[in-house]
Amino acid sequence: MTKARLLRVLDGEAIAQPPMWLMRQAGRYLPEYRALRTKAGSFLDLCYTPELATEVTLQPIRRFGFDAAILFSDILVIPHALGRDVRFVEGEGPRLDPIDIADIEQLTTHAVLERLAPVLETVSAVRRELAPDKALIGFCGAPWTVATYMIAGRGTPDQAPSRLLAARDPQALDRLIDKLVQASIVYLVAQLRAGADAVQVFDSWSRVLSPAAFERWSAGPIARIVAGVRAEIPGARFIGFPKGADRGLVSFVETTGVNAVGVDWTVPLATVRQEIADRAAIQGNLDPMVLVAGGTQLDDAVDEILDAMRGARLIFNLGHGIVPQTPIEHVERLVERVRR
Ligand code: CP3
Repeated sequence: MTKARLLRVLDGEAIAQPPMWLMRQAGRYLPEYRALRTKAGSFLDLCYTPELATEVTLQPIRRFGFDAAILFSDILVIPHALGRDVRFVEGEGPRLDPIDIADIEQLTTHAVLERLAPVLETVSAVRRELAPDKALIGFCGAPWTVATYMIAGRGTPDQAPSRLLAARDPQALDRLIDKLVQASIVYLVAQLRAGADAVQVFDSWSRVLSPAAFERWSAGPIARIVAGVRAEIPGARFIGFPKGADRGLVSFVETTGVNAVGVDWTVPLATVRQEIADRAAIQGNLDPMVLVAGGTQLDDAVDEILDAMRGARLIFNLGHGIVPQTPIEHVERLVERVRR
């Protein structure tokens, strides 16, 4: 049986050895990534060059044999495809021209597929090269998280500029989020048609929202994306990652209908298991810093996750992306421990 283990878990099976992959598994902690990145020039050039993006997507699978590859791209290709200026500044992160209310009205979604054609080409190429027992995960950013970068023009510690817009002019934020919902539906449908087996929606900034704001701008829009995609592709598999949703997790799963939900390391797994495991698989939740530290602390943390989830549907992962200073040997030790 070659059905990828990740897909078995998303489709409802609890299996003895959980599938594993790591968020940001293709990236700067890998020497082969750094070499290719230098060759590509800018980060966006790398995302938009299918041969190179395909190679980078496959690098962590070749090295560690993870159960899933995740498309190499970025959540900010959507604002780029909507006509916004997006740059990645070396050592600093993304920079966009902060959007104002008049700009929101000007956003059009008509060119999204045309502009993201190279990314879709990468999806097809990766699926062709990937073994049948490995899953390919496509992704997009959640509308709220993408909106925060469009509004502030960069990452901020607490997304104050976006929370201010939400408080001052909630209808304007609704309109921005609606454009992002439309663009994300089109983009994810295209990724699934190009060969992605499942898609993940990254809401890295859900935790800064009040409960009511979380429903309106995080869970609600993601639910519309899931429904919109499934209207075209019934049974499309979704992983939701509302980072820091905390008490909102159960209602997030109910509202959105995702097949799996990603949780970070601040969440008590045993409780989440009780509340969610019969409705969705659980993905997570090792602290990326524990992976940097390595040693017996790493072994213990891994065992704790496996013990808490034994017999339930677990997708082993980190609780957020792997960081550049992570030693390769620690990732090897992690893989060995999970597969023991
Ligand atoms: O997981 C993977 O391996 C697939 C590729 C992927 C990237 N970014 C590559 C990337 C994915 C799924 C993302 C998602 C992403 N991008 C998120 C959501 C998840 C999260 O981490 O919260 C967010 C918020 C972004 C926006 C973004 N892209 C930021 C804030 C940065 C700068 C921070 C950093 O790590 O440098 C990026 C750049 C980025 N995206 C890099 C990579 C490999 C590093 C760029 C480089 O090589 O110089």
